[in-house]
Formats: sequence, C-alpha cells, structure tokens
Amino acid sequence: MRHARIVGTGANVPDRVVTNDDLAVVYGIDTDEAWIRTRTGVRERRFADEGVRTSDLAAPAARRALEAAGWQASDLDLVVFCTLSPDKAFPGSGVYLQALLGLPDAGCFPPCLDVRNQCSGFLYGLACATGMIRGGLASRVLLVGAEVHSAALDLTTRGRSVAALFGDGAAAVCLEASEAPGVRDVLLGADGRHADSLAQGVWDMGRRPFVTLDAEGRGTIPPEQLWAHMDGPLVFRHAVSRMRDALVDVCARDGSSLQDVDLFVLHQANRRINTQVARLLEIPEDRLVHNIERFGNTTAATIPLLLDEAARSGRLVEGMRVALCAFGSGFTWGSALLDWSTARR
Ligand code: UT7
Repeated sequence: MRHARIVGTGANVPDRVVTNDDLAVVYGIDTDEAWIRTRTGVRERRFADEGVRTSDLAAPAARRALEAAGWQASDLDLVVFCTLSPDKAFPGSGVYLQALLGLPDAGCFPPCLDVRNQCSGFLYGLACATGMIRGGLASRVLLVGAEVHSAALDLTTRGRSVAALFGDGAAAVCLEASEAPGVRDVLLGADGRHADSLAQGVWDMGRRPFVTLDAEGRGTIPPEQLWAHMDGPLVFRHAVSRMRDALVDVCARDGSSLQDVDLFVLHQANRRINTQVARLLEIPEDRLVHNIERFGNTTAATIPLLLDEAARSGRLVEGMRVALCAFGSGFTWGSALLDWSTARR
C-alpha cells in the first residue's frame, strides 16, 4: 500500500510581539496581564503588519519546508492551504501562495485546495493530503496552516474574550508518498449543531444583499456581525471531551495505545484545555509540547508550528510516535497518529 510521510517542516511568524500588557496599554482594552495568563496560558502573540496577507506570511514557511525536504517548489503536485483568515473572501489563499512561490512563472500549475476547518484545519488538510497520496492523485504535497487573525480581531474591551486568545503565524509541512506509513491514521469529526457557537457572520448569504447597504449604497456592518462571536465556556467544555475521545479513538483504530505515543502535539486554544485532556488521559507533562504562551492560538498554523519547533529543536526525533489533536469552530475536531521519519531516502 502507498503511504504518506512528512519529510520537511518550516515556519514563519511576524516579528512584532504583542504582550498581554500591550493589549491594555497600546490598544486600551480593559484587561490585565494576569487574567489572560492564568485563564488561557497566553503571555504574548505575534501580529503581522498592515499589508501582510495570509499567503504572504505562509510563503517563507513554505520555502523553509521545501528546503528541509530538499525539494524545489516545482516538485510539488498539490498545495493544500488551511486557514480561517484567507487573503480574500475568494479565491482561496492556496493560489496566491502558488504564485508567490513562482510556480506559474516556472511553467508549473499544481492544483491548490483551500481547507476551511478553523482550528482543526491542519488535521482536515492532513487527511486530504494523505488520502490524495494514498489514492495516487498526488505524490509531493505542500500542506500549509496560516492565519492573519490580527486584521479581524475586535481589539477593544467589547472583543476582549476573543482578542486575547489569537495570534498570527504560518507553518508548512511537505508530505510525500512512502512505502512505510509516516501518517498512520487521521480521524475527523464534526457537530454542526454548534456552528454558531464560534463564528464570524461578517457576510451572510441569507441577506439580500449579503451585506446591509446604507442610502448611498455603501456596505454597513454592525459590530455583532463584523466580529467573531464565541461562547467560550461551551467551546471549552466540548474541546476537552472531544479531544480526549479523539485521542483514545485514533489509538484504538490503530490497535495501539496512548502509552506508545512519545509526543502529543495538541492544538493551543487554551493551556487549561490541554492540561485537562492530559490529566484525563494520564499523559505525562514531558510528552506534551506547548507554544501558546508565545504565540497564542494560531488556529490552523498551531500544529505545524509545534511540529516545526519540535523537529528543529531536536525534541522530535526519528522513530518517534506522535499524536496530533485539535478542536475548534464548527464544532470540528480531529486527531492523527504519525511515525516520525523524515530521513531522505
Ligand atoms: O480555538 C478555538 C476554540 N476556542 C477555544 O477553545 C476557547 C475556549 N474557551 C476559553 O478558552 C475560555 O472560555 C475563555 C478564555 C475564552 C474565557 O475564559 P472563562 O474563564 O470561560 O471566562 P468567561 O467567558 O466565563 O468570562 C469570565 C469573566 C467575564 O466577566 P464577568 O461577566 O464575569 O464580569 C468576562 O467578561 O472574564 C471576563 N473576561 C475578561 N477579563 C479580562 C473575558 N475576557 C477577558 C479578558 N480580560 N481578556
């Protein structure tokens, strides 16, 4: 059977650091450093400068992943771009990234697929890429998770419960066809009854036209439509139970055990969510990696950012069994089991 494995990772975060104190002092939000740190684990996040779109942030991450894999961009036969903050409403960000990588100019036109599954986006993208490779539709895939949240956060006291959590970032992995399974399994789930519990209704195709117009024909968007809305405590409760079950189920389907996992790479929405998941599953602290304190929740970029950091720091080494897991808006969730083997053959 044809399998898929990750052979390179890369990341790129904006230079600009925004601390919890900056949210209060620079943006004038009625919040305090200790509240954010103790309730979420976030100490600081990165914000991209005005003019930087999601594909711009992704391009250096993609180049670093290609370099780590020893590939040229022209080797790619598929680009999968996971984001909830695409450059534009349409088209997706994948085509912008493809052009930034210079592929059409070099006479290469690989297909570009955008995945819109929010915090679970990277795992949904991993399932797409793995399935395409296993099915013979692709052999060398660039899988990207990238977000520019800072452009769409309500950075006022009204939006503090959402704004305090999120940051910008991008990361990518290169996946190639292999004889042995790097990606052992990916398990996905969703519960659409909670679709509006974490959503941004900035446009609504139920309205005619989709954005309310004023007398002069200009679009006007009231704050409750403009900004993301989140029922934080509900999301928190579901995240703990869905992530717990997704990790147990992916191991059960694989016929392996959580004890066989060397490294748990969990989505970074709130440090307390992961602490609770780890406690319920008796996962030792030294098998978890975190970056929420430095980057906040970078949504689809979170898991590949963690993978890149772990791979480059030596925390993740050949032969390790890795479990990935995420939960977010939709509600959607996913988990995956990997055998880490990036060595060039
Ligand atoms: O990745 C996508 C998935 N998202 C998540 O997984 C997020 C899950 N939920 C959470 O992480 C938490 O629910 C939050 C961190 C969002 C909120 O924490 P909480 O402990 O659930 O607080 P809460 O929403 O129940 O609010 C408690 C209080 C409220 O004040 P009152 O009404 O009790 O006076 C909030 O207004 O905390 C207040 N609050 C803040 N205070 C200072 C909310 N945000 C802030 C803030 N600074 N940034």
